[in-house]
Amino acid sequence: MARPAKARLNLEALRHNIAHARALAPQSKIMAVVKANAYGHGAVVIAQTLQPLADALAVACIDEALELRAAGISAPILLLEGFFEADEVHIAAAENFWLCIDNEWQLNVLEQEKLQQPVQVWLKIDTGMHRLGFAPELSSDAYKRLKSSANVLDEIVLCTHFASADDLLSDQTQEQLDVFNNTCEALPGLRSAANSPGLLGWPESHFDWVRPGYMLYGNSPLAIQHDNAQALRPVMTLSSTIISLHEVKPGESVGYGATWTAQQPSRIATVTIGYGDGYPRLARNGTPVLVNGQRASLAGRVSMDMITIDVTHLPDVKIGDEVILWGDGLPLAEVAACAGTIGYELTTRMPARTRRLVSKA
Ligand SMILES: Cc1ncc(COP(=O)(O)O)c(C=O)c1O
Repeated sequence: MARPAKARLNLEALRHNIAHARALAPQSKIMAVVKANAYGHGAVVIAQTLQPLADALAVACIDEALELRAAGISAPILLLEGFFEADEVHIAAAENFWLCIDNEWQLNVLEQEKLQQPVQVWLKIDTGMHRLGFAPELSSDAYKRLKSSANVLDEIVLCTHFASADDLLSDQTQEQLDVFNNTCEALPGLRSAANSPGLLGWPESHFDWVRPGYMLYGNSPLAIQHDNAQALRPVMTLSSTIISLHEVKPGESVGYGATWTAQQPSRIATVTIGYGDGYPRLARNGTPVLVNGQRASLAGRVSMDMITIDVTHLPDVKIGDEVILWGDGLPLAEVAACAGTIGYELTTRMPARTRRLVSKA
């Protein structure tokens, strides 16, 4: 017997989503971002599925890349934050991990170490996010130093990252694109800027490599509905089952802190899933769930292992019925908004206790 709370992973949806990314950016190579355990989905199974369909993979750090190599993934893997210790560059050279060079310290280390073979470098330019990368006026010098280092393969990729591409009305993305284009003009090399919102909403950001993560998992990062996001299909569907039913009288409350009180005779179903399974504790009363395909809403605070939902309007509901928390038929973003967060955080925080069940279709 197993705990009913589970995350079903639809690998056919994953394949469909990367094909959609390919169709939207046909001139670009695809770097599929699988960091943070593939946004909580399970890095190895996701990388195995994407490897034949992507041109490279990207992770946040060398440990994540080594996990993929140990599982037999042979594709090039970009370390998006480069390296944190000098030893890592030797491993990167041996394992064909590509390095983002984001700052002066990394550049110095890369110049000083003696590598067995040169590494592929992506030079990060800070075009306005001010998190990682060289200031535009320092980029040319960094580029020249990389070009003259025997540790670096000749073809350097120039890259940047957007701060606000999810907001199609923000001016910041165009400003970043202008800075990027101006900075790259004098620096020969392939270019990369687009994350998922860039790929979906900013065609002029596609350049030579796109770097989608979130959209591959079937979710739209865009703040508004967009045609290019309609075709995405959720990879993860989180579900569990009803384990108890209660009749509650008007004036009676439900759950920790008594935050939900019945206004009418109500039927409350207890579902065995909680924040210990990755369902957000901050989901508010009224957050939607699907019971047998019909909408119902959260009633009372999320516990570690259980939630309570109002099924007064669904008289046929019984113990053992399935409840979907997000995924098929219920967009992750809608649930995330009810918890004051984004879908990225919800899947990424999915704990190991929640079984991932892989389905091919
Ligand atoms: C440098 C870089 N590129 C691409 C991505 C993928 O972004 P998204 O998941 O929005 O597609 C990330 C994710 O944070 C990133 O840090």
